[in-house]
Amino acid sequence: MQAKKAGRMSWAVLAAAGWLIAGAAVMAQDASPASKPTPAPAPVPYPINRPAPVAGAPATPAPAVVPAIPPRLLVWDSERKTQTVQAGAANAEFVFLLTNTASFPVTISEIHTSCGCTVPKAPPMPWTLAPGTNGQVGINVNLAGKSGTFTKQITVSTTNAPGFPSILYVDITIPENPEAVRARNMQMASADPAAIFKGDCARCHVAPTVGKMDKDLYVAACGICHEAQNRATMVPDLHNLPHPTDYAFWKEIITHGKPRTLMPGFSAPQGGPLSPEQIESLAQLLNKSFPSRTAAVAGTNATLARINFAPQAPLPPLPQPPAVGAPPAPPAPPK
Ligand code: HEC
Ligand code: HEC
Repeated sequence: MQAKKAGRMSWAVLAAAGWLIAGAAVMAQDASPASKPTPAPAPVPYPINRPAPVAGAPATPAPAVVPAIPPRLLVWDSERKTQTVQAGAANAEFVFLLTNTASFPVTISEIHTSCGCTVPKAPPMPWTLAPGTNGQVGINVNLAGKSGTFTKQITVSTTNAPGFPSILYVDITIPENPEAVRARNMQMASADPAAIFKGDCARCHVAPTVGKMDKDLYVAACGICHEAQNRATMVPDLHNLPHPTDYAFWKEIITHGKPRTLMPGFSAPQGGPLSPEQIESLAQLLNKSFPSRTAAVAGTNATLARINFAPQAPLPPLPQPPAVGAPPAPPAPPK
């Protein structure tokens, strides 16, 4: 009788202990790595059918000892793929290869993408992969309205490890069409001519002018637009302006720019990068090197031959005949 009772009690004790163990296991399973680590030691949280956690494993394992990331059931050829598409391409296509490395079937329940523009191509869901078998997931990104470099995310969830999806990324770079860049830059400059001195524009339009004087300064500050082979048709050739120029003209245009055009003012009050000394240096250089049209007509300048008169309107009459007996018209440069 006593023995029988003791036997029942010990069963009860065992059952209670078993319940406690089961409870602890359930609690451990509910914990996720994202939740705050609890001080009490618990098995590695990972709620799937895999070998039981090692007894006494710490709740927040030291990274070197036990990997914090749960083992992967699905192994991918790469979890991040990068592509630079052709300018004007309508779509970017990617293929991710996967292998079920578990010893049991793994069922993919959902493939979720971060944008409606990103469409996965895979067998119908749920999709079960037998142990050790391979599959592939295609990703098609619609590039309409996209530009620059951007990333899309793809989340592949399984029923075996619901809290631990595979996260895949595709990085896409759309190279910019140079004419589109020019159009955008010109649009920005027409809204604000000083735009070229700001933000990313300054990398090419300001940084090279820093600390420069004279010819080097001209090349960096002005030549970038005015000497460019590829410049917009509205950017004039400064060697051949269709009107007289002098020191005051150069100083004025460098300081204030040309109002309501894409020709910016380079002085600090206009938002420009040039110091008064730099402006002075440029005005003197340009007045000396780029002959005024009137001076050229007078035949007094050695660079006369560079001036192209042909397409221009009739030249203004000369105020005085040249001192040395050159014929009045057409002017021939003296040897
Ligand atoms: C990578 C260097 C670079 C950057 C950055 C840059 N530019 Fe330019 N910019 C140039 C060059 C070079 C030219 C001469 C024309 C050419 O070769 O396309 C030019 C010309 C221009 C012109 C004259 C019109 C033309 O196309 O000939 C304007 C206006 C202009 N840039 C505005 C801007 C603005 C506004 C920004 C910033 C939004 C900017 N640029 C950024 C290099 C640059
Ligand atoms: C961002 C490109 C750009 C840069 C840099 C630039 N210019 Fe210009 N410039 C222009 C454009 C565009 C025009 C034509 C403006 C118009 O009439 O529409 C112009 C016009 C001019 C003119 C002709 C004005 C006239 O109508 O007689 C002169 C002179 C001139 N620039 C001098 C300079 C000098 C000097 C520098 C350097 C300090 C310089 N530019 C830098 C774009 C530029």
